[in-house]
Amino acid sequence: MKKALVTGSSGLVGSEMVVTLDELGWAVHGVDNNMRRDFFGPDGDTTANLTRLVGATEHFEHHELDVRDRVGVGRLFDDVRPSLLMHCAAQPSHDLAARRPFDDFDVNAVGTLNLLEAARASCPESPFVFLSTNKVYGDAPNELELVELETRYDYADPGSRDGIDETCRIDATLHSLFGASKAAADLLVQEYGRYFGMPTVCFRGGCLTGSNHASAELHGFLAYLARCVLEGRTYRIYGYKGKQVRDNIHASDVCSAALAFAAAPRPGAVYNIGGGRENSVSILEAIARLEELTGRTLDAEYVDEPRRGDHICYISDLSRLRSDYPSWDVTVELEEILRGLVGASR
Ligand SMILES: NC(=O)c1ccc[n+]([C@@H]2O[C@H](COP(=O)([O-])OP(=O)(O)OC[C@H]3O[C@@H](n4cnc5c(N)ncnc54)[C@H](O)[C@@H]3O)[C@@H](O)[C@H]2O)c1
Repeated sequence: MKKALVTGSSGLVGSEMVVTLDELGWAVHGVDNNMRRDFFGPDGDTTANLTRLVGATEHFEHHELDVRDRVGVGRLFDDVRPSLLMHCAAQPSHDLAARRPFDDFDVNAVGTLNLLEAARASCPESPFVFLSTNKVYGDAPNELELVELETRYDYADPGSRDGIDETCRIDATLHSLFGASKAAADLLVQEYGRYFGMPTVCFRGGCLTGSNHASAELHGFLAYLARCVLEGRTYRIYGYKGKQVRDNIHASDVCSAALAFAAAPRPGAVYNIGGGRENSVSILEAIARLEELTGRTLDAEYVDEPRRGDHICYISDLSRLRSDYPSWDVTVELEEILRGLVGASR
């Protein structure tokens, strides 16, 4: 039986990958220490996901391990020697990183290095999939000229319609400390592909989402918005009149991209991944649709100052990924994602 190792296995994408691989007949080793709860409090607790995984899978083994534990990580890799590694563990919030810079860097950058080195020592031939972020581009995407429409911003130049591609620069731009620690990890992952020839890949995510997100105000935009609508919580909109745009991709479509890469790896590859234009939505638009779906009214509060370095309009250009892996595409439409988040049937 083929063995995979998934870090962040109790999180949104990690848990999706565990179930996907289990269904495909893999034995899956999950690494997660529920640090999301430590980062975000009770809202971020991933215990429910872990319980779900234990009940829903056949060959899943959980390891309560911290990716910062270099010795423990090395030992686990030696024991398991996985044929595939999916690295989803992270400190994922821009705002929290400024409050906990050492934790942010130690988890995101050093933790990734621990995994890369362990993989080089134990299983250098195995595909190593890293979930990077569009924040490696910092706020450079905001330099594109925009038009303000009634409910959203959009790119002014029709040539930019497809959004941001991988040639966007990653230096001389404001990242947030989170973006900087992820960029460090992203470069390391690329380097292990280029320098050591390992089959590594960085997927630079837009908004990754789904109903298994332990959403908190500081991370998980769409799922948290849905939670606020459903639970009557106040949702704070930070700047840009709520017209900032995100492209949203369901975690299952991220997992299928990882599997496509694993089947035909290109060492050191980098891909933007998100929902693309079809799955893009502004905060105002998302609120309106969630209100329609639930019949509730969101208690929204407008804060007249954007988050530092926040993207105004971000749409992932998926051309490179689609061209290298033509069998892959976004399959879960935005409407289905929104319905899933509020438990609405078709
Ligand atoms: N969700 C998004 O919108 C988004 C966007 C871009 C990139 N990403 C990236 O995708 C990846 C997965 O995101 P997600 O939304 O599934 O995140 P998530 O927070 O839901 O899952 C991450 C998991 O990692 C675990 N974890 C954190 N620190 C750990 C540590 N030191 N050791 C072991 N486990 C640890 C957490 O407990 C959590 O369960 C992350 O790398 C994130 O930066 C996510």
